[in-house]
Amino acid sequence: MINKYKNGKDNMEKINLDAVKNMFNLEGKAAIVTGGAGALGEAVCAALSAYGADIVVTGRTVKTLEDAVKGIEKAGRKGYAVACDVTKEDEVENLVKKTMDIFGKIDILVTVAGIAKRFPAEDFPVEDFRQVIDINVTGTFLCCKHVGKIMKEQGYGKIITISSVRDFAGHTGGYAAYGPSKAAVSLLTKQLATEWAKYKINVNAIAPTIFWTPLTQQVLEDEKLKKIFLDRIPMGRAAVPQDMAGATVYLASAASDFITGQVLYVDGGCTAG
Ligand SMILES: NC(=O)c1ccc[n+]([C@@H]2O[C@H](COP(=O)([O-])OP(=O)(O)OC[C@H]3O[C@@H](n4cnc5c(N)ncnc54)[C@H](O)[C@@H]3O)[C@@H](O)[C@H]2O)c1
Repeated sequence: MINKYKNGKDNMEKINLDAVKNMFNLEGKAAIVTGGAGALGEAVCAALSAYGADIVVTGRTVKTLEDAVKGIEKAGRKGYAVACDVTKEDEVENLVKKTMDIFGKIDILVTVAGIAKRFPAEDFPVEDFRQVIDINVTGTFLCCKHVGKIMKEQGYGKIITISSVRDFAGHTGGYAAYGPSKAAVSLLTKQLATEWAKYKINVNAIAPTIFWTPLTQQVLEDEKLKKIFLDRIPMGRAAVPQDMAGATVYLASAASDFITGQVLYVDGGCTAG
């Protein structure tokens, strides 16, 4: 069909329906998921393994990763736990080395590790501010930097960073560190996408609205704040970890081969209005 648009000349690639049907398949792919002990990290591991990926899952301690590894194995895939503090460059290098020892390649990186701390800006302790920036921004950068080197050599890779709907607008809830950190994650995503497109590395972000996880416990327990959040979501509910699955598989798979530098809001319409 497509060649009709090229003056009737049969010189454009025709759509391959078998490839289209198979484009979400991740069988044989090797992934790293950071922050795998967290709620969203586990959801990301479940989604990738359900579509066939084997995964090295990371957190600061291996003990906390048992559930994520069990979930990957339940899906019939290989799961490995490697300890890594994403703010420490030597630990990130070790994570990449160990993953290469296990899989011999890295097809997919999902940088889920992150924290949120909320205080009124005028009272925000600088050490807490620095910690949020260090984990969310520097941690994401270091994982992308070292996995990116491997992907550059491979001439292939899919990187998914985790931003937030807080990446582009302020909020009354004390987000002086978290909001700017996620704005930086979104721009880092676009920066890497532009630098690495020539190596066939896709770099995209998923920007979720609020999920009820330990990270958002503080908001959940504050009825007034909870109402402010939910009133802003046209679909009228918070996200559930399962909402991450479709976006993750899409951005990790061949279905998104021509998509890079995008921030995909998984937000029930929150940023639409
Ligand atoms: N929960 C939400 O509503 C929501 C909304 C938007 C974006 N996000 C983002 O999603 C990501 C995951 O959030 P979550 O709700 O699953 O939180 P979570 O607290 O359940 O998980 C975060 C994980 O990151 C790990 N982590 C923190 N610092 C680390 C470090 N230095 N090195 C390695 N691992 C570290 C934690 O141990 C934890 O396992 C975060 O980046 C968060 O900002 C969450």
